[in-house]
Amino acid sequence: MINIALVGYGKMGKMIEEIAPKEEFNISGKYDVINPVKEHLKNNTDVAIEFSTPASVIENIEFLSSKGIDVVCGTTGWYNKSDVVKDIIKKNGTGFIYASNFSVGVNIFFQMVKNAGKLINKYPQYEILIKETHHTRKLDKPSGTGIRTAEYLLEGISRKDSFTSDSAEPAFNEINIISERITDVVGKHEVEFESDADTISLIHNAKSRRGFAEGALLAAKYIKGKKGFYKFEDVFSELIK
Ligand SMILES: NC(=O)c1ccc[n+]([C@@H]2O[C@H](COP(=O)([O-])OP(=O)(O)OC[C@H]3O[C@@H](n4cnc5c(N)ncnc54)[C@H](O)[C@@H]3O)[C@@H](O)[C@H]2O)c1
Repeated sequence: MINIALVGYGKMGKMIEEIAPKEEFNISGKYDVINPVKEHLKNNTDVAIEFSTPASVIENIEFLSSKGIDVVCGTTGWYNKSDVVKDIIKKNGTGFIYASNFSVGVNIFFQMVKNAGKLINKYPQYEILIKETHHTRKLDKPSGTGIRTAEYLLEGISRKDSFTSDSAEPAFNEINIISERITDVVGKHEVEFESDADTISLIHNAKSRRGFAEGALLAAKYIKGKKGFYKFEDVFSELIK
């Protein structure tokens, strides 16, 4: 049984609570802006799952790690401070795992995209395009997952060396990422390999936030009792064994 603290009890915190199997996880505390973890932490916590805000995440990590609690971090927007977080984790000798996208399906999609890039490298007749579609409240463009998709393709395709965003005329060496914002789309990512003869597509379409929550729980099982700073993508294949 893993005792979990939900640090940030918004859309993601609630989804994790809803799907966490009762025989494996005990939700030992729920914290948010009006019930801050720093003031109200209960004793029996093995792992904190942190989905709060960019403004609060570093302070929360620092506090949780100082209490010997391992952290799964889903909050985005702090990666320019990752050296600070690495130092905190090292100093306290705790475990930390993060992802900009904890979705199990997206991480499977990344592996497929990586392999597809290597394969398409041998077939110069194919042009490469990424499309990402999200709800209209999403502020960043292109999405972090769209950028990561481009990076995986760039690893394998030697005729491409950079990506561009919403370009009307991408250069030969660029992969174009087209972004669309449509009401109520959770998140759709598509890679198209297009020749004069045909189109080959790889698509990931999120139906809800459930996939993120499933990945965060897998990460909680992985990080419990471990020491060090981990990226979900790097250990994903170990997690799904
Ligand atoms: N990595 C992923 O897979 C993934 C998936 C979805 C969302 N996210 C990110 O996770 C974060 C949260 O997303 P959400 O959709 O749940 O947002 P949300 O707005 O629904 O919830 C945020 C929660 O954080 C709480 N909060 C604010 N300040 C806090 C503090 N000091 N301590 C504790 N809690 C505090 C709020 O009260 C609220 O409950 C965002 O950064 C979002 O981009 C990441």
